[in-house]
Amino acid sequence: MSLTHLSLNNFRNIEAITFSPCEAINVIFGENGSGKTSLLEAIYFLSSGKSFRTNLSKLLIRHESEKCLVHGKKQLNSLSIPVGISKSRLGETVLKIQGQSSRRISELAMILPIQVITPESYELFFGGPKERRKFLDLGVFHVEHAFFSAWKTFNQVLKQRNALLKARPANLSQQLAYWDAQFVSLAEQINTHREAYISRFQEHFFDKIGDISPIFKGLEIRFQPGWKGELKEVLAAQLERDVKLGYTSKGPHKADFNFYADGHSAENILSRGQLKLLLYALKVTQSELIDLECNKQSILLIDDLPSELSEETKLSVSHLLARCRSQLFITAITPESIAAVVEPMEREVKMFHVKHGSLTTK
Ligand SMILES: Nc1ncnc2c1ncn2[C@@H]1O[C@H](COP(=O)(O)OP(=O)(O)O)[C@@H](O)[C@H]1O
Ligand SMILES: [Mg+2]
Repeated sequence: MSLTHLSLNNFRNIEAITFSPCEAINVIFGENGSGKTSLLEAIYFLSSGKSFRTNLSKLLIRHESEKCLVHGKKQLNSLSIPVGISKSRLGETVLKIQGQSSRRISELAMILPIQVITPESYELFFGGPKERRKFLDLGVFHVEHAFFSAWKTFNQVLKQRNALLKARPANLSQQLAYWDAQFVSLAEQINTHREAYISRFQEHFFDKIGDISPIFKGLEIRFQPGWKGELKEVLAAQLERDVKLGYTSKGPHKADFNFYADGHSAENILSRGQLKLLLYALKVTQSELIDLECNKQSILLIDDLPSELSEETKLSVSHLLARCRSQLFITAITPESIAAVVEPMEREVKMFHVKHGSLTTK
């Protein structure tokens, strides 16, 4: 259950490459600026229609080209599913799944669960709640099947509610009553899915990962749904404030969670190296849960793995990665710099060298 074939056309600095990754570990090495991150970005783009480093999808299209194209084949048991995505300068996105046009990126995401670890991923601890919600909802999306439809409808309702708060029509409270009934019901559904997922996530984390490092032992995830008490009453109590703000200040769109180690915020008590290890552990836990509950193997993209990792952390990361069944794509400047992670894993390894946007198998 992995990507067995990939081809990229006019993606960033890559004009055209085609290659066959292996099922286990794919190492992509090359000088700075050669196109390593671009290659991972293309795989991410194939799953999500987005980039993990920019919101401007035009930047993905190679200079002076009209469109970028990424195509892959995903092996699912005995089935090989061809998937493809292209984006034009005019903003047109075309998706193909098994030769058929599709309008829904979520279908691609369902086929290709992806986790990304880049040097920027530490935003999960130091950044705002948006990053953490994104991490949480990716897992909930795969594992809790009814979540996506509730979440999509909720966002439409939220948009309508916020538009009303801004417009302040004369019959505001009457109109709000209609939207708020849906808002409350969808919010509760979303929250139930998130809480169910977090509870299974914690259980899996402690059962399966907890013994890899002593820092995981006293770890706790504290989840805040985005409001406290009865949501209907909270919305009523917040109304005056929300009208002033022009948006809805409480609800599942404000949910957050934090990590605590021995009762203190993890980011305040753990070292940078320990936080890095925790980040890997969280991503591996999520991949394993998706695998376990949906029988879907994730793809794990790890950009610049050796950067700032001590030898000791490299070994723990290696233990973590060795146990998950994800297909790995790891970038580094030199293969030697990640030997300490890759070798102890005893999984199949394929090496690719990237130079000025072209790729050779080593
Ligand atoms: N749209 C684009 N068209 C052509 N080249 C690009 C585009 N976007 C970025 N680049 C160039 O692609 C090169 C590869 O970048 P990157 O994948 O980040 O390299 P690496 O991760 O190997 O350091 C960089 O030199 C960058 O300037
Ligand atoms: Mg890079």
